[in-house]
Amino acid sequence: MDTPSDVLVLSEGEAPAIAPAAPPRCPRWSDTLAYIADPDQFCRQNLARHGPIFQTRVFGGTTVFVGSSRAIQMAFNGDGDYTEIGLPPTTMAMFGEYSLFQRPDLHRQRKTALRPGFTGSMLAAYIPHMQRVIAQHLQTWERMSARDAPLPLVPSVEKVSFDVLAPLLLGIPVDQGDAALAGLPIATKTDLKRCYKTFFDGFYGLLKWRSPLTAFGRGYQARENLIEFMRAVIQRRRRAPVEAPTDFLGMMLAQQQDNPKGVFSNDLIENQCLLQLWASHYEVTGLAASWIYQVGQHPEVLQCLRAEQAAVLETSQGLNDITPATLKQLTYLDATIKETLRVLPPSSTATRRLTKSVVLDGVLYEKGWSLIAEPRIAHAMTTHFTHPDQFDPDRFLPDRNEGGPYEFIPFGGGVHACLGAQLATTLMKVLAMHLLHRFDWQCPGKAQFVQFPLKQIKNNYPIQLTIQDVHK
Ligand code: HEM
Repeated sequence: MDTPSDVLVLSEGEAPAIAPAAPPRCPRWSDTLAYIADPDQFCRQNLARHGPIFQTRVFGGTTVFVGSSRAIQMAFNGDGDYTEIGLPPTTMAMFGEYSLFQRPDLHRQRKTALRPGFTGSMLAAYIPHMQRVIAQHLQTWERMSARDAPLPLVPSVEKVSFDVLAPLLLGIPVDQGDAALAGLPIATKTDLKRCYKTFFDGFYGLLKWRSPLTAFGRGYQARENLIEFMRAVIQRRRRAPVEAPTDFLGMMLAQQQDNPKGVFSNDLIENQCLLQLWASHYEVTGLAASWIYQVGQHPEVLQCLRAEQAAVLETSQGLNDITPATLKQLTYLDATIKETLRVLPPSSTATRRLTKSVVLDGVLYEKGWSLIAEPRIAHAMTTHFTHPDQFDPDRFLPDRNEGGPYEFIPFGGGVHACLGAQLATTLMKVLAMHLLHRFDWQCPGKAQFVQFPLKQIKNNYPIQLTIQDVHK
Protein backbone atom coordinates (compact mmCIF):
# COMPACT_ATOMS: atom_id res chain seq x y z
CA MET A 1 0.00 0.00 0.00
CA ASP A 2 1.26 3.50 -0.91
CA THR A 3 0.33 5.27 2.33
CA PRO A 4 2.66 8.04 3.59
CA SER A 5 4.90 6.17 6.03
CA ASP A 6 4.22 8.67 8.80
CA VAL A 7 0.43 8.30 8.90
CA LEU A 8 -0.26 7.41 12.50
CA VAL A 9 -3.23 5.05 12.70
CA LEU A 10 -4.71 5.16 16.21
CA SER A 11 -6.22 2.16 17.95
CA GLU A 12 -9.47 2.59 19.86
CA GLY A 13 -8.87 4.94 22.82
CA GLU A 14 -5.21 5.60 21.91
CA ALA A 15 -4.00 9.20 22.29
CA PRO A 16 -0.97 10.40 20.32
CA ALA A 17 2.06 11.64 22.31
CA ILE A 18 1.69 15.19 20.94
CA ALA A 19 -1.90 16.45 20.85
CA PRO A 20 -2.85 16.96 17.19
CA ALA A 21 -4.97 19.84 15.88
CA ALA A 22 -8.39 19.48 14.29
CA PRO A 23 -8.65 20.55 10.62
CA PRO A 24 -9.66 24.21 10.45
CA ARG A 25 -13.14 25.63 9.78
CA CYS A 26 -16.40 25.20 11.59
CA PRO A 27 -18.77 22.92 9.63
CA ARG A 28 -22.08 24.54 8.66
CA TRP A 29 -25.50 23.12 7.91
CA SER A 30 -25.56 25.08 4.65
CA ASP A 31 -22.37 23.42 3.35
CA THR A 32 -24.11 20.75 1.24
CA LEU A 33 -26.20 23.30 -0.60
CA ALA A 34 -23.23 25.62 -1.12
CA TYR A 35 -21.08 22.75 -2.47
CA ILE A 36 -23.74 21.36 -4.81
CA ALA A 37 -24.61 24.84 -6.11
CA ASP A 38 -21.03 25.64 -7.05
CA PRO A 39 -18.28 23.18 -6.05
CA ASP A 40 -15.60 25.33 -7.71
CA GLN A 41 -16.45 28.39 -5.69
CA PHE A 42 -16.91 26.38 -2.50
CA CYS A 43 -13.45 24.85 -2.86
CA ARG A 44 -11.70 28.04 -3.98
CA GLN A 45 -13.14 30.20 -1.21
CA ASN A 46 -12.34 27.71 1.50
CA LEU A 47 -8.85 27.07 0.11
CA ALA A 48 -8.17 30.82 0.24
CA ARG A 49 -9.55 31.18 3.78
CA HIS A 50 -8.48 27.97 5.48
CA GLY A 51 -5.82 26.28 3.34
CA PRO A 52 -6.04 22.95 1.52
CA ILE A 53 -7.57 20.91 4.37
CA PHE A 54 -10.82 22.02 5.97
CA GLN A 55 -13.87 20.66 7.75
CA THR A 56 -17.36 20.85 6.32
CA ARG A 57 -20.78 19.33 6.79
CA VAL A 58 -21.12 18.43 3.09
CA PHE A 59 -23.45 15.40 2.75
CA GLY A 60 -24.12 15.42 6.51
CA GLY A 61 -21.70 14.43 9.28
CA THR A 62 -18.20 15.85 9.31
CA THR A 63 -16.57 15.79 5.88
CA VAL A 64 -12.99 16.92 5.53
CA PHE A 65 -11.89 18.19 2.13
CA VAL A 66 -8.27 17.40 1.42
CA GLY A 67 -6.15 19.05 -1.27
CA SER A 68 -2.51 18.74 -0.18
CA SER A 69 -0.66 15.87 -1.84
CA ARG A 70 0.18 14.17 1.46
CA ALA A 71 -3.39 14.26 2.75
CA ILE A 72 -4.66 13.05 -0.64
CA GLN A 73 -2.20 10.18 -0.57
CA MET A 74 -3.46 9.31 2.91
CA ALA A 75 -7.09 9.45 1.74
CA PHE A 76 -6.48 7.36 -1.40
CA ASN A 77 -4.64 4.49 0.24
CA GLY A 78 -6.43 3.64 3.47
CA ASP A 79 -8.79 0.95 2.09
CA GLY A 80 -9.06 -2.00 4.44
CA ASP A 81 -6.75 -0.33 6.96
CA TYR A 82 -8.30 2.93 8.13
CA THR A 83 -10.85 3.90 5.44
CA GLU A 84 -13.82 2.42 3.60
CA ILE A 85 -15.89 3.71 0.71
CA GLY A 86 -18.30 6.22 2.23
CA LEU A 87 -20.98 6.71 -0.39
CA PRO A 88 -24.66 7.33 0.46
CA PRO A 89 -26.93 4.23 0.59
CA THR A 90 -28.69 5.31 -2.61
CA THR A 91 -25.43 5.33 -4.57
CA MET A 92 -24.28 2.01 -3.12
CA ALA A 93 -27.61 0.39 -4.05
CA MET A 94 -27.29 1.75 -7.58
CA PHE A 95 -23.80 0.28 -7.88
CA GLY A 96 -25.05 -3.13 -6.80
CA GLU A 97 -22.88 -5.83 -5.33
CA TYR A 98 -20.75 -6.37 -8.45
CA SER A 99 -19.08 -2.95 -8.57
CA LEU A 100 -15.47 -2.33 -7.63
CA PHE A 101 -16.63 -0.09 -4.81
CA GLN A 102 -19.02 -2.50 -3.14
CA ARG A 103 -16.80 -5.44 -2.18
CA PRO A 104 -13.42 -4.34 -0.78
CA ASP A 105 -12.52 -8.01 -0.21
CA LEU A 106 -12.81 -8.73 -3.95
CA HIS A 107 -11.64 -5.36 -5.24
CA ARG A 108 -8.07 -6.23 -6.20
CA GLN A 109 -9.02 -9.53 -7.82
CA ARG A 110 -11.80 -7.94 -9.89
CA LYS A 111 -9.77 -4.90 -10.89
CA THR A 112 -6.88 -7.07 -12.06
CA ALA A 113 -9.25 -9.20 -14.12
CA LEU A 114 -10.92 -6.16 -15.71
CA ARG A 115 -7.75 -4.23 -16.53
CA PRO A 116 -6.89 -6.04 -19.82
CA GLY A 117 -10.19 -4.70 -21.24
CA PHE A 118 -8.90 -1.13 -20.97
CA THR A 119 -5.19 -1.36 -21.66
CA GLY A 120 -2.52 -2.93 -23.87
CA SER A 121 -3.50 -4.88 -26.95
CA MET A 122 -7.28 -4.54 -26.37
CA LEU A 123 -6.96 -0.77 -26.15
CA ALA A 124 -4.87 -0.69 -29.32
CA ALA A 125 -7.50 -2.81 -31.05
CA TYR A 126 -10.20 -0.25 -30.13
CA ILE A 127 -8.51 2.53 -32.13
CA PRO A 128 -9.80 1.56 -35.62
CA HIS A 129 -13.37 1.51 -34.25
CA MET A 130 -12.82 4.92 -32.64
CA GLN A 131 -11.45 6.25 -35.93
CA ARG A 132 -14.40 4.98 -37.96
CA VAL A 133 -17.09 6.33 -35.63
CA ILE A 134 -15.37 9.68 -35.20
CA ALA A 135 -14.87 10.12 -38.95
CA GLN A 136 -18.56 9.35 -39.51
CA HIS A 137 -19.72 11.92 -36.96
CA LEU A 138 -17.33 14.58 -38.20
CA GLN A 139 -18.89 14.31 -41.64
CA THR A 140 -22.13 15.51 -40.06
CA TRP A 141 -20.23 18.26 -38.25
CA GLU A 142 -18.70 19.22 -41.61
CA ARG A 143 -22.10 19.44 -43.31
CA MET A 144 -23.34 21.73 -40.53
CA SER A 145 -20.32 23.99 -40.69
CA ALA A 146 -20.60 24.16 -44.49
CA ARG A 147 -24.06 25.67 -43.88
CA ASP A 148 -22.58 27.99 -41.22
CA ALA A 149 -24.84 26.29 -38.69
CA PRO A 150 -23.49 26.43 -35.11
CA LEU A 151 -22.93 23.07 -33.48
CA PRO A 152 -24.32 22.45 -29.98
CA LEU A 153 -21.01 21.42 -28.42
CA VAL A 154 -21.94 19.02 -25.62
CA PRO A 155 -24.84 17.17 -27.32
CA SER A 156 -22.67 16.68 -30.44
CA VAL A 157 -19.72 15.36 -28.46
CA GLU A 158 -22.05 13.18 -26.39
CA LYS A 159 -23.24 11.40 -29.55
CA VAL A 160 -19.65 10.63 -30.56
CA SER A 161 -18.77 9.41 -27.10
CA PHE A 162 -21.81 7.09 -26.88
CA ASP A 163 -21.27 5.66 -30.35
CA VAL A 164 -17.63 4.96 -29.56
CA LEU A 165 -18.04 3.62 -26.03
CA ALA A 166 -21.31 1.65 -26.12
CA PRO A 167 -20.08 -0.81 -28.79
CA LEU A 168 -16.74 -1.23 -27.01
CA LEU A 169 -18.24 -1.78 -23.57
CA LEU A 170 -21.65 -3.35 -24.22
CA GLY A 171 -20.57 -5.24 -27.32
CA ILE A 172 -23.43 -3.97 -29.54
CA PRO A 173 -22.73 -1.88 -32.65
CA VAL A 174 -25.21 0.87 -31.77
CA ASP A 175 -23.18 3.22 -33.98
CA GLN A 176 -24.62 1.33 -36.93
CA GLY A 177 -28.21 2.22 -36.04
CA ASP A 178 -31.21 0.63 -34.36
CA ALA A 179 -30.98 -2.55 -36.43
CA ALA A 180 -28.25 -3.72 -34.05
CA LEU A 181 -30.79 -3.65 -31.20
CA ALA A 182 -33.63 -5.45 -32.97
CA GLY A 183 -35.08 -8.21 -30.80
CA LEU A 184 -33.45 -6.95 -27.59
CA PRO A 185 -35.49 -5.73 -24.58
CA ILE A 186 -34.40 -2.15 -25.32
CA ALA A 187 -34.81 -1.84 -29.06
CA THR A 188 -33.70 1.69 -29.99
CA LYS A 189 -30.62 3.75 -29.30
CA THR A 190 -32.81 6.62 -28.07
CA ASP A 191 -34.43 4.33 -25.49
CA LEU A 192 -31.08 2.90 -24.46
CA LYS A 193 -29.64 6.37 -23.91
CA ARG A 194 -32.75 7.47 -22.02
CA CYS A 195 -32.54 4.43 -19.78
CA TYR A 196 -28.87 5.15 -19.13
CA LYS A 197 -29.59 8.76 -18.21
CA THR A 198 -32.29 7.66 -15.73
CA PHE A 199 -29.81 5.11 -14.33
CA PHE A 200 -27.15 7.84 -14.00
CA ASP A 201 -29.54 10.25 -12.25
CA GLY A 202 -30.52 7.50 -9.80
CA PHE A 203 -26.98 7.57 -8.35
CA TYR A 204 -27.59 11.06 -7.04
CA GLY A 205 -31.10 10.47 -5.65
CA LEU A 206 -31.46 11.64 -2.07
CA LEU A 207 -34.19 9.30 -0.84
CA LYS A 208 -33.64 5.54 -0.87
CA TRP A 209 -37.29 4.96 -1.72
CA ARG A 210 -38.03 2.66 -4.64
CA SER A 211 -40.84 4.63 -6.20
CA PRO A 212 -41.37 6.20 -9.63
CA LEU A 213 -41.66 9.45 -7.69
CA THR A 214 -37.96 9.48 -6.70
CA ALA A 215 -34.81 9.77 -8.81
CA PHE A 216 -33.47 6.72 -6.95
CA GLY A 217 -36.63 4.68 -7.65
CA ARG A 218 -36.58 5.53 -11.34
CA GLY A 219 -32.83 4.92 -11.51
CA TYR A 220 -33.13 1.55 -9.81
CA GLN A 221 -35.85 0.48 -12.23
CA ALA A 222 -33.63 1.62 -15.13
CA ARG A 223 -30.82 -0.47 -13.66
CA GLU A 224 -33.06 -3.56 -13.66
CA ASN A 225 -34.09 -2.87 -17.25
CA LEU A 226 -30.47 -2.49 -18.29
CA ILE A 227 -29.47 -5.73 -16.58
CA GLU A 228 -32.25 -7.56 -18.42
CA PHE A 229 -31.03 -5.95 -21.63
CA MET A 230 -27.44 -7.05 -21.01
CA ARG A 231 -28.60 -10.58 -20.26
CA ALA A 232 -30.20 -10.73 -23.70
CA VAL A 233 -27.09 -9.22 -25.34
CA ILE A 234 -24.92 -11.86 -23.69
CA GLN A 235 -27.20 -14.71 -24.74
CA ARG A 236 -27.02 -13.47 -28.31
CA ARG A 237 -23.23 -13.22 -28.14
CA ARG A 238 -22.94 -16.77 -26.84
CA ARG A 239 -24.79 -18.03 -29.89
CA ALA A 240 -22.13 -16.47 -32.15
CA PRO A 241 -18.83 -16.56 -30.25
CA VAL A 242 -15.79 -14.90 -31.80
CA GLU A 243 -12.22 -16.17 -31.76
CA ALA A 244 -10.40 -12.99 -30.75
CA PRO A 245 -12.61 -10.56 -28.82
CA THR A 246 -12.41 -6.92 -29.85
CA ASP A 247 -14.57 -5.45 -27.10
CA PHE A 248 -14.79 -5.45 -23.32
CA LEU A 249 -17.77 -7.82 -23.19
CA GLY A 250 -15.98 -10.26 -25.50
CA MET A 251 -12.89 -10.11 -23.31
CA MET A 252 -14.91 -11.06 -20.22
CA LEU A 253 -16.80 -13.84 -22.01
CA ALA A 254 -13.55 -15.30 -23.33
CA GLN A 255 -12.05 -15.29 -19.84
CA GLN A 256 -15.17 -16.95 -18.47
CA GLN A 257 -14.97 -19.65 -21.10
CA ASP A 258 -11.30 -20.30 -20.31
CA ASN A 259 -11.94 -20.42 -16.59
CA PRO A 260 -15.64 -21.01 -15.75
CA LYS A 261 -14.93 -20.97 -12.00
CA GLY A 262 -12.86 -17.75 -12.19
CA VAL A 263 -13.74 -14.11 -11.48
CA PHE A 264 -16.19 -13.67 -14.32
CA SER A 265 -19.60 -14.93 -13.22
CA ASN A 266 -22.60 -14.04 -15.40
CA ASP A 267 -23.73 -11.47 -12.83
CA LEU A 268 -20.34 -9.78 -12.77
CA ILE A 269 -20.24 -9.57 -16.56
CA GLU A 270 -23.72 -8.05 -16.87
CA ASN A 271 -23.05 -5.53 -14.12
CA GLN A 272 -19.60 -4.54 -15.31
CA CYS A 273 -20.90 -3.68 -18.79
CA LEU A 274 -23.43 -1.27 -17.29
CA LEU A 275 -21.07 0.19 -14.77
CA GLN A 276 -18.21 0.81 -17.16
CA LEU A 277 -20.42 2.69 -19.58
CA TRP A 278 -21.82 4.63 -16.62
CA ALA A 279 -18.27 5.41 -15.42
CA SER A 280 -17.11 6.59 -18.81
CA HIS A 281 -19.73 8.07 -21.07
CA TYR A 282 -20.51 11.29 -19.20
CA GLU A 283 -16.95 11.85 -18.00
CA VAL A 284 -15.47 11.40 -21.46
CA THR A 285 -18.11 13.72 -22.93
CA GLY A 286 -17.19 16.32 -20.31
CA LEU A 287 -13.48 16.00 -21.05
CA ALA A 288 -13.83 16.17 -24.84
CA ALA A 289 -16.21 19.14 -24.79
CA SER A 290 -13.97 20.99 -22.34
CA TRP A 291 -10.88 20.30 -24.44
CA ILE A 292 -12.54 21.67 -27.60
CA TYR A 293 -13.65 24.71 -25.60
CA GLN A 294 -10.26 25.37 -23.99
CA VAL A 295 -8.37 25.00 -27.26
CA GLY A 296 -10.94 27.24 -28.95
CA GLN A 297 -10.25 29.88 -26.30
CA HIS A 298 -6.51 29.77 -27.03
CA PRO A 299 -5.78 30.08 -30.77
CA GLU A 300 -2.03 29.94 -30.12
CA VAL A 301 -2.50 26.49 -28.54
CA LEU A 302 -4.46 25.35 -31.59
CA GLN A 303 -1.59 26.43 -33.85
CA CYS A 304 0.99 24.51 -31.76
CA LEU A 305 -1.21 21.42 -31.81
CA ARG A 306 -1.58 21.57 -35.55
CA ALA A 307 2.18 22.00 -36.05
CA GLU A 308 2.93 19.03 -33.81
CA GLN A 309 0.39 16.85 -35.58
CA ALA A 310 1.72 17.78 -39.03
CA ALA A 311 5.25 16.84 -37.95
CA VAL A 312 4.17 13.51 -36.47
CA LEU A 313 1.93 12.51 -39.36
CA GLU A 314 4.67 13.24 -41.86
CA THR A 315 6.76 10.43 -40.44
CA SER A 316 3.91 7.98 -39.73
CA GLN A 317 1.25 6.29 -41.82
CA GLY A 318 -1.05 9.33 -41.64
CA LEU A 319 -4.40 9.88 -40.01
CA ASN A 320 -5.90 6.64 -41.27
CA ASP A 321 -3.49 4.47 -39.40
CA ILE A 322 -3.24 5.89 -35.89
CA THR A 323 -1.52 3.54 -33.46
CA PRO A 324 -0.56 3.87 -29.78
CA ALA A 325 2.95 4.70 -31.04
CA THR A 326 1.60 7.65 -33.05
CA LEU A 327 -0.31 8.93 -30.04
CA LYS A 328 2.76 8.65 -27.83
CA GLN A 329 4.63 11.11 -30.02
CA LEU A 330 2.00 13.81 -29.52
CA THR A 331 3.39 15.20 -26.28
CA TYR A 332 1.89 18.66 -26.68
CA LEU A 333 -1.56 17.19 -27.34
CA ASP A 334 -1.13 15.10 -24.21
CA ALA A 335 -0.21 18.27 -22.29
CA THR A 336 -3.34 20.09 -23.49
CA ILE A 337 -5.53 17.19 -22.38
CA LYS A 338 -3.89 17.12 -18.97
CA GLU A 339 -4.26 20.89 -18.66
CA THR A 340 -7.95 20.62 -19.55
CA LEU A 341 -8.37 17.95 -16.87
CA ARG A 342 -6.51 20.15 -14.40
CA VAL A 343 -8.55 23.28 -15.04
CA LEU A 344 -11.90 21.54 -15.54
CA PRO A 345 -11.74 18.19 -13.73
CA PRO A 346 -15.03 16.43 -14.54
CA SER A 347 -15.49 14.91 -11.07
CA SER A 348 -14.17 14.72 -7.54
CA THR A 349 -13.32 11.38 -6.03
CA ALA A 350 -15.85 9.34 -4.13
CA THR A 351 -16.02 9.84 -0.40
CA ARG A 352 -13.97 7.70 1.98
CA ARG A 353 -15.11 7.14 5.57
CA LEU A 354 -12.51 6.77 8.32
CA THR A 355 -12.85 3.46 10.15
CA LYS A 356 -10.03 4.48 12.51
CA SER A 357 -8.67 7.84 13.64
CA VAL A 358 -5.42 8.87 11.97
CA VAL A 359 -2.90 11.65 12.47
CA LEU A 360 -0.89 13.15 9.63
CA ASP A 361 1.30 16.24 9.81
CA GLY A 362 -0.10 17.14 13.23
CA VAL A 363 -3.74 17.02 12.06
CA LEU A 364 -6.24 14.58 13.57
CA TYR A 365 -8.78 12.94 11.26
CA GLU A 366 -11.34 11.29 13.49
CA LYS A 367 -12.92 7.87 13.09
CA GLY A 368 -16.37 8.25 11.47
CA TRP A 369 -15.49 11.40 9.54
CA SER A 370 -15.54 11.42 5.74
CA LEU A 371 -12.77 12.52 3.42
CA ILE A 372 -13.13 13.98 -0.07
CA ALA A 373 -9.96 14.35 -2.16
CA GLU A 374 -10.80 17.31 -4.36
CA PRO A 375 -9.01 18.05 -7.64
CA ARG A 376 -10.65 21.48 -7.48
CA ILE A 377 -8.39 22.18 -4.50
CA ALA A 378 -5.29 20.18 -5.44
CA HIS A 379 -5.23 21.62 -8.96
CA ALA A 380 -5.54 25.22 -7.74
CA MET A 381 -2.67 25.13 -5.25
CA THR A 382 0.39 27.26 -5.96
CA THR A 383 2.57 24.66 -4.24
CA HIS A 384 1.45 22.13 -6.87
CA PHE A 385 1.19 24.34 -9.98
CA THR A 386 2.72 27.66 -11.00
CA HIS A 387 0.08 30.30 -11.79
CA PRO A 388 -2.72 27.75 -11.39
CA ASP A 389 -5.33 30.17 -12.77
CA GLN A 390 -3.72 30.19 -16.20
CA PHE A 391 -4.44 27.65 -18.93
CA ASP A 392 -0.86 26.70 -19.68
CA PRO A 393 -0.32 23.24 -21.25
CA ASP A 394 3.47 23.75 -21.21
CA ARG A 395 3.46 22.99 -17.49
CA PHE A 396 2.99 19.30 -18.38
CA LEU A 397 5.85 19.17 -20.91
CA PRO A 398 8.94 17.25 -19.77
CA ASP A 399 11.10 20.29 -18.95
CA ARG A 400 8.57 21.62 -16.42
CA ASN A 401 6.85 18.37 -15.54
CA GLU A 402 4.39 19.85 -13.03
CA GLY A 403 1.66 17.76 -11.42
CA GLY A 404 3.52 15.19 -9.35
CA PRO A 405 1.97 12.18 -7.62
CA TYR A 406 -1.20 13.09 -5.71
CA GLU A 407 -1.02 16.70 -6.97
CA PHE A 408 -2.71 16.02 -10.30
CA ILE A 409 -5.72 13.80 -9.59
CA PRO A 410 -8.40 14.00 -12.32
CA PHE A 411 -8.48 10.20 -12.38
CA GLY A 412 -8.20 9.76 -8.63
CA GLY A 413 -5.22 7.70 -7.46
CA GLY A 414 -4.10 4.94 -5.14
CA VAL A 415 -6.26 1.87 -4.64
CA HIS A 416 -9.27 3.12 -6.63
CA ALA A 417 -7.39 4.97 -9.38
CA CYS A 418 -9.48 5.15 -12.54
CA LEU A 419 -9.38 1.97 -14.56
CA GLY A 420 -10.34 3.74 -17.78
CA ALA A 421 -7.86 6.65 -17.77
CA GLN A 422 -5.94 5.30 -20.76
CA LEU A 423 -9.11 4.52 -22.67
CA ALA A 424 -10.43 8.04 -21.99
CA THR A 425 -7.23 9.78 -23.09
CA THR A 426 -6.81 7.55 -26.14
CA LEU A 427 -10.33 8.37 -27.28
CA MET A 428 -9.72 12.06 -26.58
CA LYS A 429 -6.51 11.99 -28.64
CA VAL A 430 -8.05 10.24 -31.63
CA LEU A 431 -10.95 12.70 -31.61
CA ALA A 432 -8.54 15.64 -31.27
CA MET A 433 -6.45 14.44 -34.23
CA HIS A 434 -9.49 14.18 -36.49
CA LEU A 435 -10.74 17.59 -35.38
CA LEU A 436 -7.37 19.25 -35.93
CA HIS A 437 -7.13 17.65 -39.33
CA ARG A 438 -10.50 18.93 -40.54
CA PHE A 439 -11.44 22.07 -38.67
CA ASP A 440 -10.49 25.43 -37.28
CA TRP A 441 -12.51 26.74 -34.40
CA GLN A 442 -12.63 29.51 -31.87
CA CYS A 443 -14.66 29.73 -28.69
CA PRO A 444 -14.83 33.36 -27.76
CA GLY A 445 -16.85 34.28 -24.69
CA LYS A 446 -17.19 32.27 -21.52
CA ALA A 447 -19.29 29.11 -21.49
CA GLN A 448 -21.63 28.43 -18.60
CA PHE A 449 -21.21 25.16 -16.75
CA VAL A 450 -23.40 22.62 -15.03
CA GLN A 451 -21.53 22.19 -11.76
CA PHE A 452 -22.88 19.01 -10.18
CA PRO A 453 -22.67 15.99 -10.14
CA LEU A 454 -20.22 16.31 -13.02
CA LYS A 455 -18.75 19.55 -14.24
CA GLN A 456 -19.83 20.06 -17.81
CA ILE A 457 -20.46 22.90 -20.25
CA LYS A 458 -24.19 23.61 -20.56
CA ASN A 459 -25.99 21.92 -23.44
CA ASN A 460 -26.91 25.16 -25.17
CA TYR A 461 -23.32 26.32 -25.73
CA PRO A 462 -22.77 26.50 -29.50
CA ILE A 463 -19.51 26.28 -31.39
CA GLN A 464 -18.76 27.45 -34.90
CA LEU A 465 -16.39 25.21 -36.82
CA THR A 466 -14.65 26.24 -40.02
CA ILE A 467 -13.56 23.57 -42.47
CA GLN A 468 -9.84 23.88 -43.07
CA ASP A 469 -8.99 25.18 -46.53
CA VAL A 470 -7.36 21.91 -47.61
CA HIS A 471 -10.71 20.11 -47.16
CA LYS A 472 -12.95 22.61 -48.94
C1 HEM B 1 -12.33 11.70 -18.52
C2 HEM B 1 -12.77 10.52 -18.18
C3 HEM B 1 -12.75 9.97 -16.78
C4 HEM B 1 -12.57 10.59 -15.58
C5 HEM B 1 -12.32 12.07 -15.32
C6 HEM B 1 -12.63 9.57 -14.55
C7 HEM B 1 -12.47 9.82 -13.19
C8 HEM B 1 -12.38 8.83 -12.25
C9 HEM B 1 -12.07 9.07 -10.86
C10 HEM B 1 -11.80 10.42 -10.23
C11 HEM B 1 -12.06 7.86 -10.23
C12 HEM B 1 -11.70 7.58 -8.79
C13 HEM B 1 -12.89 7.49 -7.92
C14 HEM B 1 -12.50 7.33 -6.47
O1 HEM B 1 -11.34 7.14 -6.11
O2 HEM B 1 -13.37 7.42 -5.65
C15 HEM B 1 -12.39 6.86 -11.22
C16 HEM B 1 -12.52 5.51 -10.95
C17 HEM B 1 -12.92 4.60 -11.89
N1 HEM B 1 -13.11 4.81 -13.24
FE1 HEM B 1 -12.89 6.56 -14.21
N2 HEM B 1 -12.86 8.37 -15.15
C18 HEM B 1 -12.93 8.55 -16.50
C19 HEM B 1 -13.10 7.59 -17.47
C20 HEM B 1 -13.30 6.26 -17.23
C21 HEM B 1 -13.46 5.24 -18.23
C22 HEM B 1 -13.35 5.47 -19.74
C23 HEM B 1 -13.69 4.06 -17.57
C24 HEM B 1 -13.92 2.68 -18.14
C25 HEM B 1 -14.52 2.44 -19.25
C26 HEM B 1 -13.62 4.34 -16.15
C27 HEM B 1 -13.74 3.39 -15.15
C28 HEM B 1 -13.47 3.63 -13.82
C29 HEM B 1 -13.53 2.60 -12.81
C30 HEM B 1 -13.90 1.14 -13.04
C31 HEM B 1 -13.19 3.20 -11.60
C32 HEM B 1 -13.14 2.55 -10.22
C33 HEM B 1 -11.77 1.97 -9.97
C34 HEM B 1 -11.67 1.31 -8.62
O3 HEM B 1 -12.57 1.44 -7.79
O4 HEM B 1 -10.66 0.65 -8.38
N3 HEM B 1 -13.39 5.68 -15.97
N4 HEM B 1 -12.56 7.47 -12.45
